[in-house]
Amino acid sequence: MNYKAHKKRYEKLNYRRCGNSGLLLPPITLGLWHNFGGRNRMSDESKKMLFRAFDRGVTHFDLANNYGPPYGSAESNFGKIFNSDLKKYRDELIISTKAGYDMWDGPYGEWGSKKYLIASLDQSLKRMKLEYVDIFYSHRFDPLTPLEETADALAQVVYNGKSLYVGISSYSSKQTIIMNKLLKDRGVRCLIHQPSYSMINRWIEKDLIKTLKKLEMGCIAFSPLAQGMLSEKYLKSIPKNSRAAENSSLDKKMITKTYLSKISNLSKMAKKRGQTLSQMALAWVLRHPTMTSALIGARTVKQLDECLDSLNNLKFSKSELKQINIFAKEEKINLWEPSSRY
Ligand SMILES: NC(=O)c1ccc[n+]([C@@H]2O[C@H](COP(=O)([O-])OP(=O)(O)OC[C@H]3O[C@@H](n4cnc5c(N)ncnc54)[C@H](OP(=O)(O)O)[C@@H]3O)[C@@H](O)[C@H]2O)c1
Repeated sequence: MNYKAHKKRYEKLNYRRCGNSGLLLPPITLGLWHNFGGRNRMSDESKKMLFRAFDRGVTHFDLANNYGPPYGSAESNFGKIFNSDLKKYRDELIISTKAGYDMWDGPYGEWGSKKYLIASLDQSLKRMKLEYVDIFYSHRFDPLTPLEETADALAQVVYNGKSLYVGISSYSSKQTIIMNKLLKDRGVRCLIHQPSYSMINRWIEKDLIKTLKKLEMGCIAFSPLAQGMLSEKYLKSIPKNSRAAENSSLDKKMITKTYLSKISNLSKMAKKRGQTLSQMALAWVLRHPTMTSALIGARTVKQLDECLDSLNNLKFSKSELKQINIFAKEEKINLWEPSSRY
């Protein structure tokens, strides 16, 4: 395929500044955690999603070493498309990857050591056929490795040009402050934090979001649709093609009566705003001035388009926010909580 990007791709989105850096990010970013893996190639629908996203101004694609399955395949598949169709747009793209969770066997295949982080980024670059990534993340906090060592590794990838910027994911407010200082001491900016955040997973409101504002660090919220729980899809039953039916990262047991009653109420509010629940959920995440981007996943181009159309209505009245607060309550879905305990 010889993909040509849409000429008017930059006419609609309002790009947001990432903290006080020079980097602007699209308000919605596409992540490749689910639906982009596979042994040889990604599905045609996923390929279409990449092109559609870029055609609509989404310049940022988020990956990690172990996205698949199998591990590494989202990067390899992305690398193939990059090589055949996106290479000519390299300077228009922000590509991120991460290391922190289990990736290969033995003592050097996960967590936060310099040995693991440096080797993992080298492997990611090979898989994606890239000379450098734009953002490299420490994917989770490692309580057993001195943070100085993780900071050394992050600083090194910037010094040697393998990543332009670095960030952290699912770190607590306290460890974020420490990492920011360690990187600053090494002459490197901690560009961005990637935490989970949605209407039913609000942990960052306690202190992290205020910390990021103070540190002037960007914030990109992952799973803003709570893996699809913040959509109307589960209201009647569990559809066959859905994460809950696949029972991988989203446990069917999460679809409880209490959850469904919250969703039904939130969905009515969204309707009043002329939006679907997914669209209201994304607009709600983006209501924070500190929020740089909402990092979504999608299964189809139709879902992606619906998500991007959320940007047509980002405003909330005080009374709308008050009403949403009645139902936007924790659902204990934060799988990444162990990383922010320290
Ligand atoms: N840093 C980390 O530790 C970490 C962890 C997790 C994710 N992430 C990043 O964040 C990205 C997004 O995470 P996520 O996939 O969990 O995000 P999400 O946007 O909360 O969930 C995506 C899922 O929501 C459903 N969906 C999307 N648009 C929809 C629409 N318009 N209508 C109805 N349902 C819709 C789909 O579910 P169905 O497939 O069921 O249809 C889709 O697969 C990942 O790809 C990854 O890049 C980072």
